[in-house]
Amino acid sequence: MPRGGPPVLIFVSILPDWTIRSAVKEDFAPVLALWVTAGGPATVTDTLEGLSRLSGADRGALLVAEWDGIVVGSLIAAWDGWRGSFYRLAVHPDRRRQGLATALVREGERRLQGCGAIRLTAIVADDEPTAGAFWRAAGYQRQQHRVRFVRLVDPSPQRRSCSSPSDV
Ligand SMILES: CC(C)(COP(=O)(O)OP(=O)(O)OC[C@H]1O[C@@H](n2cnc3c(N)ncnc32)[C@H](O)[C@@H]1OP(=O)(O)O)[C@@H](O)C(=O)NCCC(=O)NCCS
Repeated sequence: MPRGGPPVLIFVSILPDWTIRSAVKEDFAPVLALWVTAGGPATVTDTLEGLSRLSGADRGALLVAEWDGIVVGSLIAAWDGWRGSFYRLAVHPDRRRQGLATALVREGERRLQGCGAIRLTAIVADDEPTAGAFWRAAGYQRQQHRVRFVRLVDPSPQRRSCSSPSDV
């Protein structure tokens, strides 16, 4: 009989403290606040209406990481019927380097592969070394000899339905 009485069992949880899920309408305002806090570049589509339009066109594209009931991470994993595109990856500064962004991207990859995507793209600011380091660590290669051309246009007064294949 070993000395010191019965063995003491210590349980160590290997489950993460966060969950990754598709966003619902109530998440839109916290997600916009997260983007301000996380410090990524703001864009003209960072509005409640913009997120609502995204959700109507590609339901499930906006993923959030929730920790203790608080939205601490986001990723848009959008499928347009042609390619899968990642936008607005952000993790709250207090929750970084714990694997949240990686978990968001892996969930986004699962979603986009399930939609039929075979090519995944992330648009990353080239003056953000942290972002570049993250995407390289996640297994993405920086594309050479390509730049993005952008033009802002006014919303059309005559909106058409442009639903994605997942909606039909
Ligand atoms: C980039 C960002 C999303 C990373 O989130 P995160 O949850 O901390 O990332 P992870 O914990 O999943 O990191 C995975 C790996 O990426 C790399 N990485 C992440 N942050 C890094 C940093 N600051 N410096 C160097 N490498 C980094 C590391 O290899 C890391 O693995 P390790 O922690 O085992 O070393 C977060 O820093 C952020 O929100 N930044 C501001 C917004 C932004 O730049 N978004 C990207 C726009 S495309």
